[in-house]
Amino acid sequence: MAAIGIFDSGVGGLSVFQAIRHQLPSESLVYLGDSARVPYGTKSAQSVRRYALQATKKLVERDIKALVVACNTASAVALPALQEAYPNIPVIGVIEPGAQAAVGASKNQHIAVIGTEGTINGKAYEHAIQALNQSAQVDALATQMLVSMAEEGWTQNKLAQLAVDEYLRGLFFVENAPDTLMLGCTHFPVFRPVIEAFVGPTVTVVDSASTTAIAIEALLAKHQLFERHGPAREHFMVTDGPERFARVARVFLDEPIAPTQVELVDL
Ligand code: DGL
Repeated sequence: MAAIGIFDSGVGGLSVFQAIRHQLPSESLVYLGDSARVPYGTKSAQSVRRYALQATKKLVERDIKALVVACNTASAVALPALQEAYPNIPVIGVIEPGAQAAVGASKNQHIAVIGTEGTINGKAYEHAIQALNQSAQVDALATQMLVSMAEEGWTQNKLAQLAVDEYLRGLFFVENAPDTLMLGCTHFPVFRPVIEAFVGPTVTVVDSASTTAIAIEALLAKHQLFERHGPAREHFMVTDGPERFARVARVFLDEPIAPTQVELVDL
């Protein structure tokens, strides 16, 4: 039976992979990290759209039945192009599920969002959150440096603390601060302990991983695509540095992956 395809610019989408693996343990998953071209967050929308189409083509060649764009930057700019190019494959992104998580968590509907330059400059979260609640207030900030730190596996050290302090101080240590922080980049859930320690217990930190896993479950149900017989397969592909990917993947998954489990592909 065909797998669920999941792609991201690098390792960050593994936060979504992990949530889907927990939610749907009988499903086979194929992950593609476009590590040769990470970060997407500083590239033009046109380039990101082209990369997303190439990544999807590769996943479709591997016989996927549904696609999860586990990258906020690509979800922000490429979903319509992917849906048009592959009308027979159900596609979801992470922004709408993320917006649902944020609106559901916030009591005062004042939500801070951090993400890549591409996601934040395109106002993807403002639009998705305000589509759910027109009067929600959204404070958005690009925190691009956190992407490189996550790709380096530097998520709990002093530099991570300094970066979080530098980026978030102006958002939260002010009058009338937001009560919810949306991690609007799939690379960011690995900073959650440092971020939660910095913002304190009055701020709820949410990400799109678990709501995306619920959304893909609903999508499979709608299209009657559930796998019931297992055993589930997991396969990883990258466009550069399989050893590096396997090493850093440990930060995102509960268990390590062996470099031999990661296939090097060209898009
Ligand atoms: N993980 C990606 C996202 O959610 C982007 C990181 C990047 O490639 O800039 O936006």
